Amino acid sequence: MSEQTIALVTGANKGIGYEIAAGLGGLGWSVGVGARDQERREAAVEKLRAAGVDAFGVPLDVTDDASVAAAAGLVEERASRLDVLVNNAGVTGGMPQEPSTVDIAVARTAVETNVFGVIRVTNAMLPLLRRSASPRIVNMSSSGGSLTRQTDPDGETGPLSAAYSPSKSMLNALTIQYAKELRGTNILINAACPGYTATDLNGFRGVRTPEQGAAIAIRLATLPDDGPTGGFYEDAGVVPW
Ligand SMILES: NC(=O)c1ccc[n+]([C@@H]2O[C@H](COP(=O)([O-])OP(=O)(O)OC[C@H]3O[C@@H](n4cnc5c(N)ncnc54)[C@H](OP(=O)(O)O)[C@@H]3O)[C@@H](O)[C@H]2O)c1
Repeated sequence: MSEQTIALVTGANKGIGYEIAAGLGGLGWSVGVGARDQERREAAVEKLRAAGVDAFGVPLDVTDDASVAAAAGLVEERASRLDVLVNNAGVTGGMPQEPSTVDIAVARTAVETNVFGVIRVTNAMLPLLRRSASPRIVNMSSSGGSLTRQTDPDGETGPLSAAYSPSKSMLNALTIQYAKELRGTNILINAACPGYTATDLNGFRGVRTPEQGAAIAIRLATLPDDGPTGGFYEDAGVVPW
């Protein structure tokens, strides 16, 4: 088996996911660029390779069982194991999201991608992660999923978000459940908040660069063996649940 660390980043064709792939690739890792659109995936792989990254394309729609199974097959064929999985792919589901008028289809899309997508991908990759000496899983969440921040009367809670924010709260809860099951193994799993980052997700209104947004995921992907698990982190430290 190769000595080179192997990572897979979902939704890596643009935004924060692309910069996570670039950052992990900069460490000399081999990085799977998980992306559902062939053209966008190939363009990202090409750009990463031009920057010196050992990148490979992984066709991957996190909402599709067959696509996720095929992605696991591709990684197994290429490397026989996976060291790091970054569940970054995410959607808002669409706007507006006032609770009293939200379209159920919008909420369903957010949960299908941001929560069920993470379960689907994680469970498909776990057999490969279990073969790694130091497996890490990073779930890209949001402080919008922090119940503490959302109920802080003095906090900046952003727009009403009946689909996206609750989907990230559920992702946080899911991260805790995985950490409980995986305690006693060498797999560390944590949730990350990138901060308000200028990407397609928010019409580029965010104030951080995608590179800044990627930093916390890279930190959690490179945790030492005695690092934390079952936590929620941003650059400044722990995010309250
Ligand atoms: N930007 C922020 O301020 C912010 C704040 C907190 C948390 N986050 C989280 O950070 C993560 C990355 O978001 P971003 O800001 O970089 O947004 P983005 O630029 O819109 O990128 C989202 C990525 O997810 C992919 N994706 C969406 N649905 C997918 C699916 N079904 N299967 C595979 N890939 C899928 C997109 O692929 P396509 O190009 O094919 O659509 C794209 O590559 C998300 O989980 C988001 O919730 C972002």
